[in-house]
Amino acid sequence: MQRIAILVGPKSSGSNMRALIDASRHAEANFEVGCVIAPVPDSPAARCAEALGVRTRVIAPTAGAGPYLDALAQDRIDWICLAGYLRLLPLAVLEHYHRRVINIHPALLPKFGGKGMYGLHVHKAVLSAGEQVSGCSVHYVSERYDEGDVIAQLRCPVLPDDTSETLAARVLNLEHKLYAATLSDLIRTHAANGPNP
Ligand code: GRF
Repeated sequence: MQRIAILVGPKSSGSNMRALIDASRHAEANFEVGCVIAPVPDSPAARCAEALGVRTRVIAPTAGAGPYLDALAQDRIDWICLAGYLRLLPLAVLEHYHRRVINIHPALLPKFGGKGMYGLHVHKAVLSAGEQVSGCSVHYVSERYDEGDVIAQLRCPVLPDDTSETLAARVLNLEHKLYAATLSDLIRTHAANGPNP
């Protein structure tokens, strides 16, 4: 059984976090949630994690790698899943967890990613570009925003009367399906073949 940490953002609703926690509680799951890490005390996602009985920690992203590495070691974490975490992770964390830090992004990367591309900004950009298809991507996390290799994607149509809110809701629904399934596949592949180079 592999152990994951979920890193949320200060304002994340925590819906992807919750989908991962729910998936980890299925009988056939190959991962469990060792902790949720929030950047500020009392965030909505952290409150939700606590209510679900998951160990919750607060680490300020400005504190550097040390507090993350200590907490991740204490909780015996194998994989890190970002879910609404809006900052770059310290390089030492990425190096320690090489190819074991993943994120979900609400668009079809490599389009519509990068600094400032989060939340409704992403869906507004998709609509302004006149795209007919959108979706979500699970990708490895690197030292640059949304630039790590894409691992898996799911697609949905962009409808003529979509607003950024309606599109966001359609994509979020896909995110909840894609994240846990991709993590599970990665863990299986990793166990069979070792880390992807
Ligand atoms: C999601 O749209 C995800 O793609 C992005 O941040 C958002 C988090 O939403 N990385 P939620 O808190 O999981 O609902």
